[in-house]
Amino acid sequence: MPVQVLTVVGARPQIIKEAALARAIQARDDVEEVLVHTGQHYDHELSGVFFDELAIPAPDHNLGVGSAPHGAQTGRMLEKLEQVLDDEDPDAVVTYGDTNSTMAAALTAVKLHIPTAHVEAGLRSFDRRMPEEVNRVVTDQVASWLFCPSRTAVDNLADEGVRNGVHMVGDLMQDILRLEIPGIRKDASLGRILEDHGIDDAFVLATVHRQANTDDPANLQAVFDGLRQVASEIPVVAPLHPRTRNALDRSGVATGEIVVVDPVPYRQILHLMDRARVVCTDSGGMQKEAYWLETPCVTMRPHSEWTETLDAGWNRLVDADTEALVEAVHDPPRGDAHPPLYGDGHAAGKIVEILVEDIEAGDWSL
Ligand code: UD1
Repeated sequence: MPVQVLTVVGARPQIIKEAALARAIQARDDVEEVLVHTGQHYDHELSGVFFDELAIPAPDHNLGVGSAPHGAQTGRMLEKLEQVLDDEDPDAVVTYGDTNSTMAAALTAVKLHIPTAHVEAGLRSFDRRMPEEVNRVVTDQVASWLFCPSRTAVDNLADEGVRNGVHMVGDLMQDILRLEIPGIRKDASLGRILEDHGIDDAFVLATVHRQANTDDPANLQAVFDGLRQVASEIPVVAPLHPRTRNALDRSGVATGEIVVVDPVPYRQILHLMDRARVVCTDSGGMQKEAYWLETPCVTMRPHSEWTETLDAGWNRLVDADTEALVEAVHDPPRGDAHPPLYGDGHAAGKIVEILVEDIEAGDWSL
């Protein structure tokens, strides 16, 4: 009997990571996957588009949870996931990253005595006001397998007393990026947003969606004051998350000359990151992707989970500080060297190998 894993995704970055794991699972005949989408992200630009372009199999279950405050959103997920896990009775649950979907999957599984694998375990910002930090800490406490992208992540877990089931495997996002780089560099059609706006390679790519920047009016104002100032000197292209657009509408903060567009598909954001002079973001994933693409990154947060990119000199934290943001774009972080970070681009195969071996041997504990 093949090993049965049930994977839970819900938000954009998880769907991208799922593309890598699904391929590694499909390459073997001793493991099968059931895919569950919580429906946390439901807009086509934040969900469906990634399934299409990365050829991810359609979810077996879509829970249609949608948007709600944290408690209500997580609660709906717990209730619906319990039903699905009861029906499917998998050997293990796989959950990625730090979203409400991640924590809901882990909590539901452990209460049903189903072991959970947490992919991207051990990352910490040490800021419990971030919903993502709470999701990570809780998930790491109840997971049976902790797949870490870096030595720092392994050390963070050890500091919290989590040592069993910890594996350093590298980062799934690098698996996908490694496969996509040649294609995204060749495919000029991925740069059509630039052509549409008469922009050549001198531009800044900006994304903003972190709750601390969207839901705090002073931070939203400071970030967009900075981006507007940059845009008066060099074009700024900003594919904006719906949450940020809503916040801008609500608060009346101006976007000025910033070229605001809808969220773009994965291959398009990679193409833009690759060509941009600087990436300004509060995303976690884009800090790594900018690094791998050797584009300087300015991070509009007070801290980063991806500290190695800071240490290597390719990423700088400016928080929601207008002046620091503008200064960092003028003098972008560009390290002297570019050491390989976060594994070798073969994380998915390692994860599946470990899971299958341990499950077949019954070598895991809750
Ligand atoms: C979530 C994750 C975050 C991840 C991000 C990737 C949590 C706590 N946060 O943040 O870690 O980096 O996804 O994008 O899980 N909305 C839409 N359409 C959608 C989805 C959301 O309009 O398809 C709007 C809604 O107004 C919603 C708001 O965005 O209230 C926030 O959505 P939510 O799913 O709570 O979190 P994200 O900000 O997307």
